[in-house]
Amino acid sequence: MKLFKLFSFRGKTNKAPIPKQQFLAQKISRRYCLSAVALFALQSIVALMGALDLVIPDLPSPIPFEYGRAIHLGLADLWPLIGTMGMVYFFITAELNREIYSPSLARWQYWIVLAFSLSIFGTLALKIGNGREFLEGMPIFYVGICLSLALASYNLIRTLLSDKKNITPAAAIMTVGMCFLGILLLPNTITYSNPVADEAIKYWIIHLWEEMALELTSAGFIATFYVVSGLADRSKVEKWLYLEATLAVVGGLYATGHHYYWIGFPAIWLVLGSLVSLVEVIPVGLLVHMTYKGLKEAKVGSRREKLTLWLLLSSIFYHITGASLLGLFMTIPWVNLYMHGTYVTSGHAHLALFGSLGFTVLAGCYYVLSQGSEPTLKSYRGGVLAVLLLNSGLIVMASALLVAGFVETYLWRILDMDFMQVRMLLNPYLMIRALGGIIFMLGDLLLAWSFYKTWKATKPQK
Ligand code: HEM
Ligand code: HEM
Repeated sequence: MKLFKLFSFRGKTNKAPIPKQQFLAQKISRRYCLSAVALFALQSIVALMGALDLVIPDLPSPIPFEYGRAIHLGLADLWPLIGTMGMVYFFITAELNREIYSPSLARWQYWIVLAFSLSIFGTLALKIGNGREFLEGMPIFYVGICLSLALASYNLIRTLLSDKKNITPAAAIMTVGMCFLGILLLPNTITYSNPVADEAIKYWIIHLWEEMALELTSAGFIATFYVVSGLADRSKVEKWLYLEATLAVVGGLYATGHHYYWIGFPAIWLVLGSLVSLVEVIPVGLLVHMTYKGLKEAKVGSRREKLTLWLLLSSIFYHITGASLLGLFMTIPWVNLYMHGTYVTSGHAHLALFGSLGFTVLAGCYYVLSQGSEPTLKSYRGGVLAVLLLNSGLIVMASALLVAGFVETYLWRILDMDFMQVRMLLNPYLMIRALGGIIFMLGDLLLAWSFYKTWKATKPQK
């Protein structure tokens, strides 16, 4: 009920003026965001097939489970990346109130990232891959993604440098985030014969992309959105941004240690990983405080901003619960020793990767795609329903995975029961997860449809 009260929108408006002009970069960012949402829709269909395959093994499927899983994990990284590229172009121009350095480079970059991402999914569907979890496509395709990130970084840096006096912290942070994405992916375009090095560098994507680079681009978007929607004034947002950026880089970098416990690294990483992980949680607390105050004091007028907020609030909820609290619990070395790699990890992965990052990217994409139009009451309600279905589906899925993970830990790791015997006992929970997956997929398809209609309604007339 409190949430609805927050949405009654009473109070002062402290909006910053929204630039009236639509820049070319903002038009280009629409195609990134629409593609991200389409890939997200594809992801839940592929994922649901995988979840059903686990509980009904004889289910006819065109793609074997391991390759379907690889496509699912590839999508989990790449649709948020494509959506982020669109968000960054849009919000950087909104922040700076000027065009980017080269819109045509941004157009090329779109086709490159899309072509290489589709090549990864296509070849994996043809059972061509390298077996390196999360980055299972052929290494050459990741070189293509790197190229696209290099073009984006160059374009953004040149944009900032073209008017050095008017660089805002949000614009700078988004640019740094984009540069980090490319830098971290580059060493992952080659394979390593040393398994420790291979595993360690893989986490620069699984951990550092999400908990450092994308944290920076998301912070830039949230800051700009709070300012333009009047939820917080610039000075407050900027204070938060400086702290968020510092902690995301310092905390994110050293907290990689929580992935280095058992892969052949010195024991000092047990201490570093667990202590520094605490740092990662601080900016989330500050964001919650700023959001709460903003919602209490400011007036959010338009349905467009309200729907963006529904998505953003969902993200904040999972940032606190599934990412930070659950993450911290799993980071305790004595807990991790038993729970490492069980279904608890899968529960956390879904709550954190989709719950906190995915919802933020969807919020940004919706804001981008809906620029220039106010949703009708019907389409607003459709959007809210989709958000509720996504939340319900995610909570059912993740709860089932967490219970499965605890049972798995107890029976397998503590009682030392046979792995396959334990796996069979987990079936009921995995069935509930598949049920949650159905609810999630319905929400996903409804949201994608609603975004598509928004995109169509706001398409510039030729
Ligand atoms: C948006 C933020 C986050 C995202 C997207 C995220 C994502 C993930 C993913 C995808 C995995 C699975 C990796 C694998 O299968 O090897 C994972 C594992 C893990 N995460 Fe996070 N995470 C986030 C935040 C956090 C935080 C804040 C902490 C701790 C404070 C944390 C602690 C852990 C730990 C300890 C593991 C390893 C679990 C294991 O040993 O099996 N995560 N995370
Ligand atoms: C219909 C919704 C979804 C279903 C049914 C689903 C199902 C699955 C399945 C079957 C796996 C294989 C391993 C396991 O059994 O846990 C998996 C793993 C994973 N999924 Fe999903 N998924 C869904 C949505 C998503 C979304 C939206 C994301 C992120 C954007 C995501 C990220 C991941 C990650 C990171 C893993 C690896 C987990 C680990 O390291 O253990 N999933 N998912």
